[in-house]
Amino acid sequence: MSSSTPQSTSDRPTPNIKPAGGKLGILIPGMGAVTTTFIAGVEAVRRGLAAPVGSLTQLGTVRLGKRTDNNSPKISDLVPLAPLDSLSFGCWDIFEDNAYQAALNAGVLDKPMLEQLREPLEAIKPMSAVFDHEYVKRIDGPNKKPAGSKRDHAEMLMDDIRQFKERTGSDRLSMIWCGSTEVFHRPEAVHATLKDFECGLQKNDPEISPSQIYAYAALMSGVPYANGAPHLTVDSPALMELARDREVPIAGKDFKTGQTFMKTLIAPGLKSRMLGVHGWFSTNILGNRDGEVLDDPGSFKSKEESKLSALEQILQPDLYPDLYGNVYHKVRINYYPPRGDAKEGWDNIDIFGWMGYPMQIKIDFLCRDSILAAPLVLDLVLFMDLAQRAGMRGVQEWLSFYFKAPMTAPGLYPEHDIFIQLMKLKNTLRWMKGEQLITHLGLEYYD
Ligand SMILES: NC(=O)c1ccc[n+]([C@@H]2O[C@H](COP(=O)([O-])OP(=O)(O)OC[C@H]3O[C@@H](n4cnc5c(N)ncnc54)[C@H](O)[C@@H]3O)[C@@H](O)[C@H]2O)c1
Repeated sequence: MSSSTPQSTSDRPTPNIKPAGGKLGILIPGMGAVTTTFIAGVEAVRRGLAAPVGSLTQLGTVRLGKRTDNNSPKISDLVPLAPLDSLSFGCWDIFEDNAYQAALNAGVLDKPMLEQLREPLEAIKPMSAVFDHEYVKRIDGPNKKPAGSKRDHAEMLMDDIRQFKERTGSDRLSMIWCGSTEVFHRPEAVHATLKDFECGLQKNDPEISPSQIYAYAALMSGVPYANGAPHLTVDSPALMELARDREVPIAGKDFKTGQTFMKTLIAPGLKSRMLGVHGWFSTNILGNRDGEVLDDPGSFKSKEESKLSALEQILQPDLYPDLYGNVYHKVRINYYPPRGDAKEGWDNIDIFGWMGYPMQIKIDFLCRDSILAAPLVLDLVLFMDLAQRAGMRGVQEWLSFYFKAPMTAPGLYPEHDIFIQLMKLKNTLRWMKGEQLITHLGLEYYD
């Protein structure tokens, strides 16, 4: 590589990526609005009924080499990703509805579209769930595993995973949590090491949540695990240890859609121009089952923590105390059934500019939560499978792009700026294929 190119190399050896041949089984705890919208969308794309809008793996490109090279292949042509035709789906839920009925109940997609997808959706019947009402208080349902210890439940889930793999003839699996948000809790002694965690499973430790049991079962089965909700799961030392030991990728947490997506678009822009922020008030109304669950203070606390963290990390008040040292940041979620999945999110941002003069920004985002989340689910399951085949184990920080509260190595602050996250993701793909990384220096264009 000549020194006049705009790129740099990484001293990390390029991984040997195993091919994406065969079938990829997608396993999802929780078959509600996001899951059914995701599966229906994949089925619609397979049938040519819809385009995969919002999905980087299906539509995105990566520039290779210099700008003058005009070489920007599709991501799916650069790295070997499982094709949509190779996917099959297995879900768990506390309700017995099949995916067609669940999609109808979720009310995200219109009936004429769902009718066309009825056959594949009806074929997906949820496996019985590992559920604990202490962790999700506002709902309950009949489709649960028989009573047993948490260790028994982990074994039952591992059985489900094995049987699903056999039944569908899947060569590889990828699991993603799209179940309800569990109540907020911090890592306790039982999460300190894998040994403590396994002991806790045996003893039915109340600090072990259902999502952690699913994650444990996945990792023990060598299946990558991504967490789409904000609660504590694979971001505990015990499960991170298991992921490393088993050489399995993990990622999380909380899909970056809706209001926080907007926040991570706007806040880096304000900071890039050194504009100050006095306050940021965010409120929204939503009326789907997720909204109902988040109406419980414990589940809301999980969401609030994840929503609040992004702004502080982006604005870096320690570095810029005069601009961001005193930001009043408030996040409200209001359960309002008439809206269903069609959430509305308002932001009022009080900013200040040159000589301290105040200004305001108002955002009214009439979004559709599950429409925004579904392509993220697709990208994540495909990228996690890619990471697994590339031998990348443990926390996949390059997938921070998709999360409100990205997981990092212990002691490392998370990167929330979506544009830095995207650059990191694309550079990771370049590195995987032995391509030069892009630094955007570009001085050689002017030599
Ligand atoms: N839609 C978005 O934009 C978005 C963004 C970020 C995070 N999320 C998170 O994604 C998750 C799914 O959202 P949704 O709108 O589909 O919610 P939903 O309420 O429609 O679906 C969740 C499903 O999970 C099931 N469930 C709960 N506990 C379970 C368990 N232990 N095992 C199996 N199933 C279980 C519920 O019965 C329900 O059917 C939520 O945690 C939500 O906070 C969604």
